[in-house]
Amino acid sequence: MRKPFGVLPDGQQATLYTISQGNMIAKITDYGATLVSLIVPDPQGNLADVVLGFDDCNGYRTGDGYLGATVGRNANRVGGAAFSLNGKTVQLEANDNRNSLHSGSECYCFRLWKLEKQEESAVTFHLRSPNGDQGFPGNAEIFVRYSLEPGGVLRITYDAVSDLDTVFNLTNHSYFNLAGHDKPELAMGQILSMPARFFNADDAESIPTGELRSVAGTPMDFRTPKPIGRDIEADYDALHLQGGYDHNFEVFTDPCAILHDPVSGRTMAVSTDCPGVQFYSGNFLPGDVGKDGVVYIRRGGIALETQYYPDSVNHPEWPQPFVKAGVPYHSETKYIFQ
Ligand code: GAL
Repeated sequence: MRKPFGVLPDGQQATLYTISQGNMIAKITDYGATLVSLIVPDPQGNLADVVLGFDDCNGYRTGDGYLGATVGRNANRVGGAAFSLNGKTVQLEANDNRNSLHSGSECYCFRLWKLEKQEESAVTFHLRSPNGDQGFPGNAEIFVRYSLEPGGVLRITYDAVSDLDTVFNLTNHSYFNLAGHDKPELAMGQILSMPARFFNADDAESIPTGELRSVAGTPMDFRTPKPIGRDIEADYDALHLQGGYDHNFEVFTDPCAILHDPVSGRTMAVSTDCPGVQFYSGNFLPGDVGKDGVVYIRRGGIALETQYYPDSVNHPEWPQPFVKAGVPYHSETKYIFQ
């Protein structure tokens, strides 16, 4: 199923695709290859849309926060908006203080992707990203596939290849609220379980200092599940600096994170092949009006963005997002609902 999803300023038409599997329904637009809506049951079978989003493509174009978007070529921040690759400086756009955030204003989330294939329970989009795009070397062919699978699974698959050595670090920027996107006041009551032993300490511009800090004895410790809101105002430097949770945690186990809503009983597990997960408690959500007129207040949704560590291009000691010319990049993240 497909329907129009608004017209962009250049006259191009965006489209919204619906896929389904059992009682799960997902809606995805070609604008930003963005997850617009994800309807899942609670244990009693009551359905709710558990991701934040907008009613048409222009909401995503002008709204803040990268709701549901496919972010690339390199997700998260690059300190000083530059790094070195094969002895050459790759200069990106500084769009967040002196740094690159989500690859600048030409983020893939602001492109109209091409439909590659639509199936009943899956949809695949394709983007051609030319050599020099956003500053990155290499003509790249990029595919993102969303599929719904038995067992309550939404699987997002990323495949890409470039004709020069480059970086691929793609993620999905959905904000989840397992009570339903229209109940923003309930998001911080949701219980997070995350076995990560350490997180990246960041400076005031959210650039990693290089320190991989133990969560032990800190408000960053989710090894014992706890409501996200419980310690979010604790007197702790990392929470002050980032204005709440907005940190990369190591992916230590599979699943790397489990979110549970005590009100509806919905649970979501995150399973990924990425080395890191940015846990972001929506601290910068500015109160935009989203789907069905819902106002997305600060901390009204929870992002768990699977990816390489932020600024890993400048930290050779961490897992590296560099991909050789001609070598396929493949990454998958599953969101599993119960
Ligand atoms: C997140 C990032 C936040 C913020 C947000 C967009 O991925 O961690 O710091 O920039 O994107 O508002």
